[in-house]
Amino acid sequence: MRLVLLGAPGSGKGTQAQRLRDQKGIPQVSSGDLLRDAVARGTDLGKRAKAAMDAGELVSDEIVLGLIRERLGRPDVAKGFILDGFPRNVAQAGALDRLLTEIGQPIDTVVLMDVDAKALVQRLTGRRTCPKCGKVFNVYSSPSTRGDRCDNHPDAEAPLLVQRADDKEDVIENRLKVYASQTSPLIEHYTARGLLKIVNADQAVEKVFATFVRAAGG
Ligand code: AP5
Repeated sequence: MRLVLLGAPGSGKGTQAQRLRDQKGIPQVSSGDLLRDAVARGTDLGKRAKAAMDAGELVSDEIVLGLIRERLGRPDVAKGFILDGFPRNVAQAGALDRLLTEIGQPIDTVVLMDVDAKALVQRLTGRRTCPKCGKVFNVYSSPSTRGDRCDNHPDAEAPLLVQRADDKEDVIENRLKVYASQTSPLIEHYTARGLLKIVNADQAVEKVFATFVRAAGG
């Protein structure tokens, strides 16, 4: 299974990719997670990416491609992969095609998580994430059973959940604009190649997952 997940910020790409990863045992490759990790570790690349991320702009193709190339070179990818948040523009899609041809692992399917734009702001402002295991919650639709602490760890070790720096309303507004102008052209790009499947992601998480698994061919 070699998948690309497309969708607006907050459409549920990460939530669904984590579920599929756990069910199928194939890695989730999230460009956003790779970038946040680089920022948190204070690497040179993370320092160069931070300003664009804080403003809700795309990080340069050169930085993101370097991270993705390194990640797709690791052995666990031989089982397949779920690309979450990459590619993000037509130039990245071209670079991905070339890279996957090089390693003999072409994409099987591109899944678009389709959500009404009105739902996205509430999903994003309500998102909380565990800094230790990466589990994603939502204060409105899927709160942690331990309040503001992650319920995926024993009581004594449960970390406080955090809000992403770019989940503030003004930054969210820009991320949605960037998606519309730079990323949504990929819908046409992958439709023309016969790879695109559309999932109604405006339903409960479990229902979305069932449709997603079918669309992904699994
Ligand atoms: P990235 O981390 O990729 O963020 P994004 O695409 O904006 O997507 P999100 O992670 O915000 O949303 P999601 O679709 O994964 O939703 P989630 O499942 O968490 O990118 C961040 C930044 O990094 C970018 O702005 C850019 O600067 C940079 N970047 C990343 N990739 C790049 C690239 N390729 N090129 C250049 N720059 C790049 O769900 C959201 C919330 O909704 C959660 O709280 C969840 O619990 C809830 N939820 C999920 N599903 C449902 C449901 N069905 N019903 C109700 N609530 C739900």
